[in-house]
Amino acid sequence: MKLNDQSSLLAFLRSRKSASAKAMGEPGPTPAQMSEILNIAARVPDHGKLAPWRFILIEGDARARIGEGLAQIWAKNNSTHGAEMLAFVRGMLLRAPTILVVVSTAAVHGKIPVWEQQLSSGAVCYSAVLAAQALGFDAQWQSDWVAYDPAALALMGVNAHEKVAGLIYIGTSTVSLEDRPRPDVSQLLTRINA
Ligand SMILES: Cc1cc2nc3c(=O)[nH]c(=O)nc-3n(C[C@H](O)[C@H](O)[C@H](O)COP(=O)(O)O)c2cc1C
Repeated sequence: MKLNDQSSLLAFLRSRKSASAKAMGEPGPTPAQMSEILNIAARVPDHGKLAPWRFILIEGDARARIGEGLAQIWAKNNSTHGAEMLAFVRGMLLRAPTILVVVSTAAVHGKIPVWEQQLSSGAVCYSAVLAAQALGFDAQWQSDWVAYDPAALALMGVNAHEKVAGLIYIGTSTVSLEDRPRPDVSQLLTRINA
């Protein structure tokens, strides 16, 4: 498919920016919109057509239930931390209506390196962010300790051989978004043309 209106897509890509999960609220995507986000997220380059990723959607009351479990894990791992931090962890998934966990299921394969399979899961995360933003929502790709702690991973339903590529917080920002300084690509570019 060729674009009829390149300018609006390019303007969107040129200016899009992430929100902060710290200041995100309702509304989040409807089930139909979430389905659209997932289908767009899954439409990424994928060497070998392995689909080496899967999704876990955390919404509704599950956010508080899993948050409670995360707080218990946090308290066990960080006995010196205070009540304030514990309260933050307990509520961390309540910051947005929808948390999309992108799980990399990359595994050793005869032809496709694990690295390439993991890169594809990064593309899934970015496409999910773009799709959410294109639908008018705000989004932030996070990892945080929950993406690495074995007990937190088990609580979210991530298996031992899998990795979390990202927790995509999706909702509506309660503050206007501020951009951050962007890299000067001319400093990052090596041209080879002769
Ligand atoms: C793999 C990965 C993990 C990230 N984890 C976090 C995180 O835990 N907390 C955070 O504030 N930002 C995290 N970020 C950064 C934000 O997603 C994002 O880059 C930042 O908010 C600015 O995004 P923008 O360039 O889309 O505007 C992470 C980014 C990536 C690629």
